[in-house]
Amino acid sequence: MSQESIDAAQTAINAAQVAVDAATQAAQVAQSAVVEQAPAVVQVVQDVVVATNGKGILEAAYIAAAVLFVLALAALSKQETAQQGIFVGILGMIVAVVATLFSSDVTNIGYIIAAMLAGGAFGVRWANKVAMTEMPEMVAILNSFGGLAAVFIGYNSYIEHSITEPVMLSIHLTLIFLGVFIGIVTFVGSLVAWGKLNGRVKSSSLMLPHRHKMNLAALLVIIFLMFSFVGAGLEGNTAALVIMSLIAIVFGAHLVLSIGGADMPVVVSMLNSYSGWAGAATGLILGNDLLIVTGALVGSSGAILSYVMCKAMNRSFISVIAGGFGNDVVAPTGDEEQGVHVETSAAEVAEMLMNSKRVIITPGYGMAVAQAQYPVFAITKKLRDAGVDVRFGIHPVAGRLPGHMNVLLAEAKVPYDIVLEMDEINEDFNTTDTVLVIGANDTVNPAAKEENSPISGMPVLEVWNATNVVVFKRSMATGYAGVQNPLFFKENTTMLFGDAKESVEEIFKAM
Ligand code: TAP
Repeated sequence: MSQESIDAAQTAINAAQVAVDAATQAAQVAQSAVVEQAPAVVQVVQDVVVATNGKGILEAAYIAAAVLFVLALAALSKQETAQQGIFVGILGMIVAVVATLFSSDVTNIGYIIAAMLAGGAFGVRWANKVAMTEMPEMVAILNSFGGLAAVFIGYNSYIEHSITEPVMLSIHLTLIFLGVFIGIVTFVGSLVAWGKLNGRVKSSSLMLPHRHKMNLAALLVIIFLMFSFVGAGLEGNTAALVIMSLIAIVFGAHLVLSIGGADMPVVVSMLNSYSGWAGAATGLILGNDLLIVTGALVGSSGAILSYVMCKAMNRSFISVIAGGFGNDVVAPTGDEEQGVHVETSAAEVAEMLMNSKRVIITPGYGMAVAQAQYPVFAITKKLRDAGVDVRFGIHPVAGRLPGHMNVLLAEAKVPYDIVLEMDEINEDFNTTDTVLVIGANDTVNPAAKEENSPISGMPVLEVWNATNVVVFKRSMATGYAGVQNPLFFKENTTMLFGDAKESVEEIFKAM
């Protein structure tokens, strides 16, 4: 072994030692079952290093990082361990980045470190500034970066590669073509999703005539271009790659534009899944095992999440990913009012609550905007101290990202055991005295039970079955899906207009 490789191995072992220390520290800090497994992972690394006499350090570090990512995902699936899951994920990423930086393939390390520092500083500043309600937009933009990176790597690997063996070359070109295609669809689709989520692009679905035929035609042309691109072999066929890229831009934009507002949560997680598959394709192009594993983890977990959300919303997965397929026969629905609504006051609601035995609170996006979770917990505590049974009903897509409401309520220290999923609580509304609908709209809309509504078939919290329903909002405006809500005009519903936080604080004072 040369002195140079001994030095490189020593540096890598030092880096692994740093990771070992970090793992041990994380284990001490979090003291959780999951984090306690970190030293075991480090043990795997050390075993591989010893077995390969130091040479397999990069592979060992990649295995450790992959295991840490899997553990992070497992911990993220439960509210109680989610925070530790984040730590484990960060640790996995540190191991992956440090190992890659010290691998023999990396040159110009100075530029890489400068780019990492600049990107890191920008990312930290941005993440600190972003409000919880803007999280999905941030996820959409981050997905778009993943897509763009796959496009750059794809083009770069086309321009410069040393593969000449025909079979390997065909595989390489196929991966480049697919990586660039998925990358562009992810990049453009995520930008459109970002625009829809922050209101820059209309959230209703774009219904072009013959859009499914156009999508199909685009896919057929892309398959034809792929054969001609791969068939050109060493001669290269840049035109096919460029034409496909242009079609992919239109295809990606159209795919997301044709999906309606209420289905946006599925779109964001689906684009997240696409960015994972684009990453996996990039890993295959570069021959980087960790990128393949990580891409597959992101791709499959995003796909599973999209599927679970589709099931929760009673949507067909294929319809949503095919871009609003099945939305064609929708009766025009808008924001016109459908009757007379009755207003109430904070004092009246306070009295109604104190006279109730059972209360359910169903929060939505408006609670997040108003940051009303703290006063909501204050009234919950006061009512529980007075012997009132108070529980929370959480719709799977309440808010703007999965688990949004659970995070807010946990932040305000609402006990987990009174926070129930929609399916666990939906039967209980007809034995409930008072329901407080705080900043929720689509998720409590009885129009979902009717045919020909854009939200037909989506399961909703059946709040109208309670004796009294109080809706907290600022106006009669519609929710995210842009559909008027007949709940507001029911006999047992009263409206408490104003900012949710101020309204809840006033109720607290009046109690
Ligand atoms: P929405 O249907 O969006 O309704 C939120 C309501 O909050 C609005 O009616 C709004 O009425 C009210 N509001 C806003 N700011 C308020 C404030 N400061 N004080 C009081 N009220 C306020 O929310 P939802 O019921 O939670 O449903 C979620 C919707 O978002 C679904 O359509 C879902 O598909 C979609 N979505 C969900 C996700 C995920 S994964 N959860 C991601 C993207 C989209 P006013 O303007 O009149 O106050």
